[in-house]
Amino acid sequence: MCGIVGYAGNLETACDKPLEVCLQGLARLEYRGYDSAGVALTAPGMDHVEVRKKAGRLANLTEDIERRPMPQATVAIGHTRWATNGVPSDVNAHPHTSRDGKVAIIHNGIIENASQLRLDLQSEGYRFASKTDTEVAAKLLGKIVDAIIAEEGAPDLFKAMRRMARMLEGAFTILATDCRQPGIVVGARHDSPLVVGLGEGENFLGSDVAAFVAYTKRALEVGQDQCVCVSADAVVVNDFYGNVIEDPSTYTVDWDASAAEKGGWDSFMDKEIHEDPAAVQRTLLGRFDERGDITLDEVRIDDHDFKSIDKIIVIACGTAAYAGQVAKYAIEHWVRVPVEVELAHEFRYRDPILTPRTLVVAISQSGETMDTLMALRHAREQGSKVLAICNTQGASIPRESDAVLYTHAGPEVAVASTKAFVAQVTASYLLGLYLAQVKGAMFRDEIRQILDALKDMPAKIQWILDTQMTAVHEAAADMVDAHSFLFLGRHVGYPVAMEGALKLKEIAYTFTEGFAAGELKHGPIALVDEGEPVVFIVPPSHGRDVLHAKVLSGIEEVKARGAYIIAVAERGDKDVERYADVVFWRPECPTLLSPLVDVVPLQIFAMDMAKLKGYDVDKPRNLAKSVTVE
Ligand code: F6R
Repeated sequence: MCGIVGYAGNLETACDKPLEVCLQGLARLEYRGYDSAGVALTAPGMDHVEVRKKAGRLANLTEDIERRPMPQATVAIGHTRWATNGVPSDVNAHPHTSRDGKVAIIHNGIIENASQLRLDLQSEGYRFASKTDTEVAAKLLGKIVDAIIAEEGAPDLFKAMRRMARMLEGAFTILATDCRQPGIVVGARHDSPLVVGLGEGENFLGSDVAAFVAYTKRALEVGQDQCVCVSADAVVVNDFYGNVIEDPSTYTVDWDASAAEKGGWDSFMDKEIHEDPAAVQRTLLGRFDERGDITLDEVRIDDHDFKSIDKIIVIACGTAAYAGQVAKYAIEHWVRVPVEVELAHEFRYRDPILTPRTLVVAISQSGETMDTLMALRHAREQGSKVLAICNTQGASIPRESDAVLYTHAGPEVAVASTKAFVAQVTASYLLGLYLAQVKGAMFRDEIRQILDALKDMPAKIQWILDTQMTAVHEAAADMVDAHSFLFLGRHVGYPVAMEGALKLKEIAYTFTEGFAAGELKHGPIALVDEGEPVVFIVPPSHGRDVLHAKVLSGIEEVKARGAYIIAVAERGDKDVERYADVVFWRPECPTLLSPLVDVVPLQIFAMDMAKLKGYDVDKPRNLAKSVTVE
């Protein structure tokens, strides 16, 4: 939700770099929101902050700047917006400025007491051009700076930011610049992310490291309820009361800018689906040995605590929650510990039964999803240990958890999650097998066999990418005018069906529903009409014959009512071939691991449908990559 970037360079020499850094950073952060974009520049001698902003994609802003170049600067801030408060428009775009135009701010989050603050400011004669909570903060910050000048004879933006942060309620990351202090950018953070990039003679700020990784890989995470003042040579972190945070911890980002670029693919989604095999492989890498001994170094929960776990609750949202549902089938089967999977926002606002023996597993690609973060805090407050499965180093969710198991999918830029899903499922398998090892729930040989099968999965996913694309493209071309789709699966095929349905609705804007195939006769079959496309995830025909037979009878039932059947099924499944209009084949694999392959043709199908309809697959309407508001 909203991307923010900031830059502080040499105070002696104004130049184009601050603007350049902001525009490049915004391009990398555009996945966080693309309703509008804007920048603010400051340099010595300016009597106001130079602001330029435009509704719509970043390209609108860059074209405008090309037509009417902006002045050289020493510091800059930039913003790409996902509208929460006020419609997407030029006037609602960030940055917003103080009454005298000397202070500009950008903001990610929602200020919940903005209406009251607006009324207070209006009663003092302040006027507002926009409907946003951010403009309220801009006017308020300007007012506080003025008060400090009156008290102390000079502006102090850092102090003003701390004072303001104490007055705001809600979630916010705010960056500000003041033309009277053209060497600094200041920021504040509460329940929204903010990272500092540490350069040589220059420093950077961003909502995540993607904003500045092209310039530096050294990063410092600004903590909850902290403010930061960044100049070319210094980074000072305070709490909201001005106490200095000594030696805030720094880390090195382990991926480079090119990993976040399209690398010749049509879209990030294309590229990221083709990285599914690598995402699984990298997530497995170095986490077990030949004998089947699993070592999860980052999981700092000691074995004694692990042994005592008697319940697991997975909290997550969207795609990550479907990964959690796959985990439930695997972990319950392997470890014999009950696993509940709950949407984080539902978990947060009920009264869940948690004990110190409950392990809460928070799954999140971004590590910043506010619903999941709030649920995590709720769990910890009640004494449970939380383990995060996360794809983003240093993000809030892993930082606030007791332990973290990183998925190594690499940066995921397309809004629709693809490679992160297979990496989350893989990490959940590792966690399940690790628990089985610690609790002695399985023999080492059994664990080793599953690990061997897991090691083969990247090649199996690759087989799908190599052999099934044509079938998927043709099916998408045939079905592009369909108004709705049903997705059905049983057992681990059920979350895959849900995920397939979610992908299609979010990027191709097609009405879809995912169901447990066993529910068909309890309602959904009423929707089946002549030509209605129904996608079935068919379990492997070996081993679990009962499930296979049951899904087949579901196929027969909808076929008899004229449905158009698309099936994801195991190579050589003759029964399926008989009934289905189209089959996306998968190679043989154990049932519990099959979601890793079954989801892949559904990801491609959704992408193809969206492309055929002419939609931007990387940036679907109304969505943002990282949902940092509740
Ligand atoms: C769907 C999608 C979303 C996310 C959800 C959680 O393609 O991307 O449903 O999975 O918003 O996001 P993270 O995993 O970042 O917590």
